[in-house]
Amino acid sequence: MIITIDGPAAAGKGTLAGKLADKYNLAYFDTGMVYRAVGLEMLLGGFELGNVDAAVRFARNLTFPRMMELSRNPVFRSLEGSKAASAVAAVPEVRTALLQMQQDFSKNPVFADGSPAKGAIYDGRDTGTVVCPRADIKFFVTASPEIRAERRHKEYLQKGQAVDYAEVLEQTIARDQKDFARESSQPAKDAVIFDTSGLSIDEVFAKACEIIENRKITLEK
Ligand code: DC
Repeated sequence: MIITIDGPAAAGKGTLAGKLADKYNLAYFDTGMVYRAVGLEMLLGGFELGNVDAAVRFARNLTFPRMMELSRNPVFRSLEGSKAASAVAAVPEVRTALLQMQQDFSKNPVFADGSPAKGAIYDGRDTGTVVCPRADIKFFVTASPEIRAERRHKEYLQKGQAVDYAEVLEQTIARDQKDFARESSQPAKDAVIFDTSGLSIDEVFAKACEIIENRKITLEK
């Protein structure tokens, strides 16, 4: 079974994906990591974010182990890392170069310890439209920019990164404009859309499980 969860930054995709992966025993691919990895390569190499040739080269050479190694760098999920990821993700050749790696995972999904899984949950922006257009179930999770910025701001503070709420809100809106300028980031036609603004994670999780259970019956028929 392949499940995709797309939507804007900090809408609650990762939390939902993690809970569903645990419950249904599925592997998990956070596809934002491929863009964060290329963005961080640019920062570490001292390249301007607008250097398309360098970004494409890093994207073509990216491997899963290198991505995991980069993910342990504190800049990977920082505000600076997010900005770099968003910039490289806007380059079509970078997206093309990173597509195969994301699609291959659905053919041989593995858990974090390398053991094989029966299926996978993807989270990102275009996993239901481009990466896994034939996924069994597609969700599109969203929330207002203010609520999402509040959630991200809390996460940064918990990690000891002192940033201003206003700066996080400004970046959330800027990233939305960049990320959603792409047609592929719009919800897939067959996606179930959740607005999590007024919902707790448990409520979102319960709704998603209900849909999966109902859909499983149809799929098995
Ligand atoms: O989900 P995230 O915040 O870790 O994503 C980092 C960046 O990567 C974000 O600016 C959008 C981009 N991205 C994308 O373009 N396509 C995806 N499938 C996942 C992320």
